[in-house]
Amino acid sequence: MDTDLTRPSSVAGADPIDTLPPSFRWGVATSSYQIEGAVAEDGRTPSIWDTFCRVPGAVHNGDHGDVACDHYHRMPQDVALIADLGLDTYRFSVAWPRVQPGGRGPANVAGLAFYDRLVDELLGRDVEPWVTLYHWDLPQELEDAGGWPNRDTAYRFADYAELVFAALGDRVRTWTTLNEPWCSAMLGYAYGDHAPGRRNLGDGIAAAHHLLLGHGLATRRLREAARSPIELGLTLNLSTADPETGSAADRDAARAADGLANRLYLDPVLRGEYPQDVVADLAAEGVRIPVEEGDLDVIATPIDVLGVNYYFGQLHSGVDEQGRDRDDDGKPVRRVVRRDLPRTAMDWEIVPESFTDLLVRLHRDYPGTPMVITENGAAFDDKPDADGFVNDDDRVGYLTEHLRAVARARAAGADVRGYFAWSLLDNFEWAYGYDKRFGIVRVDYDTQRRTPKRSALWYRDTVRRVRGQR
Ligand code: NOJ
Repeated sequence: MDTDLTRPSSVAGADPIDTLPPSFRWGVATSSYQIEGAVAEDGRTPSIWDTFCRVPGAVHNGDHGDVACDHYHRMPQDVALIADLGLDTYRFSVAWPRVQPGGRGPANVAGLAFYDRLVDELLGRDVEPWVTLYHWDLPQELEDAGGWPNRDTAYRFADYAELVFAALGDRVRTWTTLNEPWCSAMLGYAYGDHAPGRRNLGDGIAAAHHLLLGHGLATRRLREAARSPIELGLTLNLSTADPETGSAADRDAARAADGLANRLYLDPVLRGEYPQDVVADLAAEGVRIPVEEGDLDVIATPIDVLGVNYYFGQLHSGVDEQGRDRDDDGKPVRRVVRRDLPRTAMDWEIVPESFTDLLVRLHRDYPGTPMVITENGAAFDDKPDADGFVNDDDRVGYLTEHLRAVARARAAGADVRGYFAWSLLDNFEWAYGYDKRFGIVRVDYDTQRRTPKRSALWYRDTVRRVRGQR
């Protein structure tokens, strides 16, 4: 990609982070199932993750979210952590089965009360709440009725969104409908790595379409219900897909990967159409996107902010190790190439330059939509000292380089308005369980003690410095 665009001389020399403007939003993010625990309290019913965690072998070490970080009972303490770091925004998600058990019908007042208290606690500490409506905990009853591959789930989601908005919309300005629909659709229904663990490409693609439809329907409902200005959007996990060489096969492999992971979500939301090359790739696999009349208009309902989650970039090849561009079934070879780059504990390549490339590309290809980095961060094998303090230089390095990458993208014109670190706390990392730690605050799961890591202190000091507070 055009990396020359991303190294303007205006930021050469000084630390690019210091060019971020005073209006820049600084935050941390979490999600309900990963931190809350209290899975059977106050009327919450099971989600697909409660079920999936019980499937032998599905989650590392048999871990589950029954207790997690016990945030449900420690919420004020966790909000204090955020406020003490001087951050202005907290992005959290609402657990659908907590506030509308079973996924349909009236609100569960006791479940909603938790988020009511959370919002008030945040506002009382001058931290702005940023709500994600769906971060993967689908009520199990809706999965039993077909889950996201069933079109009706999109309508259920719109009802649920309206119900949460009715309770919190007077105090919450920013609303994200979906978190990373690629993960819900593909990891959940096509590849089986996430709940509900299905493995069928057609189901994955149907799920993706219905997630996007649910996003559009919910966006319309919230816009109509709003009595004061609100910001609406969705969060996508986006990455770069670069070809290993300039060969036609490698370029086509990169195109296909970018299409299935990025453009399949960006294009319908921001351009009102599915990318034709991806439609053709899917047709070659015998899969059709179940679009009905009017769906794309709904999906393309204007949004105010695009949430970007970025963790790593990837290099793609269209030939196998023997140099063949077709596999034994005659299908094009599509292969991720392992580079000799530093990696996180997730085995994800650390490529901050790709973050700049991605943001500049989004600005170029989808102009006019402000972006906020709704997640960025890294898991490393933290080694606490006797007091539980973690001197996580590796995480500080990762965050520093990625913030610089954001600043460089802004200098090249990308309209990025904020950055949220993933995550406030070590938490339940889905199929990896508690083994992988992304927090800037350490959680000792035996005692539930929280200890800010060096990265948290570095983040606090960086935000202060950029704001000119010292
Ligand atoms: C993105 C997801 O939104 C979040 O839930 C997850 O923990 C992080 N990536 C790290 O994998």
